Amino acid sequence: MTRSRITGIAFHVPERVVTNADLEKLMDTSDAWIVERTGIRERRFVEPGVGPADLAAEAAKKALADAGRRVEDVDFIVFATITRDYMFPGSGALLQERLGLSTVGAMDIHNACSGFVYALATADAFVRVGQYRCVLVVGAEVQSTGLNLSTAGRDMAVLFGDGAGVAVVEPSADESRGVLSCVMHAEGAHAKDLWAEAPTSLVMGRFTQQMLDEGRGYPQMNGRQVFKHATTRFPEVILESLERAGHTLDEVALIVPHQANKRIGDAVAERLGVPPAKVFQNIERYGNTTAASIPIALADARDQGLVKPGDLVVLAAFGGGFAWAASVVRW
Ligand code: ACO
Repeated sequence: MTRSRITGIAFHVPERVVTNADLEKLMDTSDAWIVERTGIRERRFVEPGVGPADLAAEAAKKALADAGRRVEDVDFIVFATITRDYMFPGSGALLQERLGLSTVGAMDIHNACSGFVYALATADAFVRVGQYRCVLVVGAEVQSTGLNLSTAGRDMAVLFGDGAGVAVVEPSADESRGVLSCVMHAEGAHAKDLWAEAPTSLVMGRFTQQMLDEGRGYPQMNGRQVFKHATTRFPEVILESLERAGHTLDEVALIVPHQANKRIGDAVAERLGVPPAKVFQNIERYGNTTAASIPIALADARDQGLVKPGDLVVLAAFGGGFAWAASVVRW
């Protein structure tokens, strides 16, 4: 049976570092509160005019080099983002243009924090059936330009950052290595517990003045609900993906979760009964980059030597939708 394998992984973040102290100047918050409640100390914000496709193009070039592939080897793009450059077309087409990929197919996946795992599962399916042989799987976000950087928006404004991570997915020559399982779930009943209501096709002009006045274009979150569901679904889907792959938790070298909030990552380790070191977290330096957080964390962990050939790695995400997903990969 053909499997797909991640042959290259890399990330790109904007130069501009925004510290908690920088945010203290914009809103009634404190480094102490942010670190204690989220674990975040700094994040990156783009310069005006830079979008997810721009960040993804830089990450893609690094990931292709990491895979030993040329841009012209790419035959499909799956781009996960909720902060696409425009209402349409998707950012996948814009990345395709930036890489000079003439008429190569490209699609977007709009699945918030679980977007990258959904995108990996999509690429895995395409490669396993022989549809494509060199797929760019992208997670990229520009959250900073959609945040309410004032005291009124402080519960969300301190959480998010900008960035892009890209994986190169190709057929695996060795059946024992590669993507071993992907599981995906959603629960639309919780759509409004973590969402941004506008722009919306439910109203003429996509926005009303009232929506603008009430800040309903900014992301809103029922923090307690998200925390409760995240700390249940993360362990659940990690164990489900391992069972689907025919492996157990004690064989896992590293869990690389979506970087939602350090308290969630810590709770996942505790509920699974694994040492904190087995759950990789770099939210301290990049904040929550939504669909980009797993590929950024995976590349970071691999660059630190925490993911080595032959390791069993679990990628897991929970977020807006609600949607949650996990994938087991033999590196
Ligand atoms: N600085 C200082 N005080 C703040 C800030 C801030 N940035 N944000 C909120 N507060 C205050 C609130 O005003 C409130 O004060 P009050 O009790 O006097 O009214 C107090 O802190 C608690 O506010 P809550 O919003 O109720 O904070 P909560 O206890 O829920 O903690 C948090 C907020 C950290 C986000 C928590 O809900 C949480 O960990 N949620 C998990 C969800 C999450 O982190 N999601 C990340 C994005 S979604 C995802 O990626 C899956």
